[in-house]
Amino acid sequence: MASLKDDIVRLKRERNAVILAHNYCLPEVQDIADHVGDSLGLSITASKADAGVIVFCGVTFMAESAKILCPGKKVIVPEPYAACPMASMCSAEQIKDAKGCHGDACVVGYVNTTASAKAEMDICCTSSNAVNVVRSMKEKEVIFVPDANLGSYVASEVPEKDMVLWNGYCPVHQSITEQNIADLKEEHPGAVVIAHPECRPEVLNIADHVGSTEKMIDFVKGSESKEFIVATEKGMKHRLEKEGPGNNYYFVDHALCSVMKMTSLQSVARALKEMDREVILDNDILERAKGPLRKMIELK
Ligand code: 13P
Ligand code: SF4
Repeated sequence: MASLKDDIVRLKRERNAVILAHNYCLPEVQDIADHVGDSLGLSITASKADAGVIVFCGVTFMAESAKILCPGKKVIVPEPYAACPMASMCSAEQIKDAKGCHGDACVVGYVNTTASAKAEMDICCTSSNAVNVVRSMKEKEVIFVPDANLGSYVASEVPEKDMVLWNGYCPVHQSITEQNIADLKEEHPGAVVIAHPECRPEVLNIADHVGSTEKMIDFVKGSESKEFIVATEKGMKHRLEKEGPGNNYYFVDHALCSVMKMTSLQSVARALKEMDREVILDNDILERAKGPLRKMIELK
C-alpha cells in the first residue's frame, strides 16, 4: 500500500506543485518539502517558483504573501485556519489611523500581518532584513508594526531613526523569559545563546547572537561551539540537527507554536488531492500589497 509520503510525491508531480515549509513545521512536513526556510527565504523562493502550484506549509500570512508575489499561480494552504496570532494584532484601519497621527512617518511592516494591513505599508520586512529595511528608509520617523520586540531590537541597531512602536507580539517568543534562559545556562554553562528577535529585550540582551531562524543556522555552521541554547520555537531543532549535526541544541520546553504544528502529512496530501484550499485575495488588496512585498525582496 502506498504511504502518505508516496501519495504526496505522486500528487505533487501530477499537479506540477512545489511544496514550501517553514522551519517551525513538523519534522515530517519539513522532510517532504522541496524548500524549507525562514519567512524571507520562502518569499524569495515563492517569487521565483516555476511550478504552477505552490503548497505553503506554515501559517496563512506566508501563503498570502506567496499569492501576492505570484498572483498567476495557484497557492494552496493545507491548513487555512493556521493563522499567526500576531497578524491579528494590527489591522489596515489601525495603520491608517497611525499614519494620520504621524504625517511625516513611513510604515515598515513585519510580514506577520494580513494582506489588507500590507496594503497600507510602505515596505514589508522579515526578522532577517528588518534592520536593513529600516536603515534604507529616507524618512526619519518610522512606524513599525506589529512586533514591539522586533521593533525595539531594530531601534537599538538603527539609532538614527525615530521608531514608533506597536504593541503586538508573538505569544510563543514572548513566553520565553530571561529566567528560562538563565535556567538552561545553569544546566549547560558552556552553551552559546542564540535568540530570535521576536524575543523580549531582556532575553536578547543576554544572547550571544540575535537572528532570524535561517540566520541561526548560518551562525551555528560558522561557530566553534558544540552547544547552543536556542531561544525560539522548538521546531527549529529538526533543521538545526540536520544542518549542524553533532551539536547539542537546548530549547525552552514550552516554546511551541500550535498554528505552525497544524499542517500534517495528511493535510498536505488532502490539499494536493482536492486542490480546494486555495488562497483567494481581493484583487485591489493584492495589487496594493504587492509593492511593499516586492520592495522587501529587492532589498533582501
Ligand atoms: P523567521 O522564519 O522569519 O525567522 O520568522 C519566525 C516566525 O515567527 C515566523 O512566523
Ligand atoms: Fe506567529 Fe509566533 Fe507562531 Fe511565528 S511563532 S507563526 S510569530 S505565533
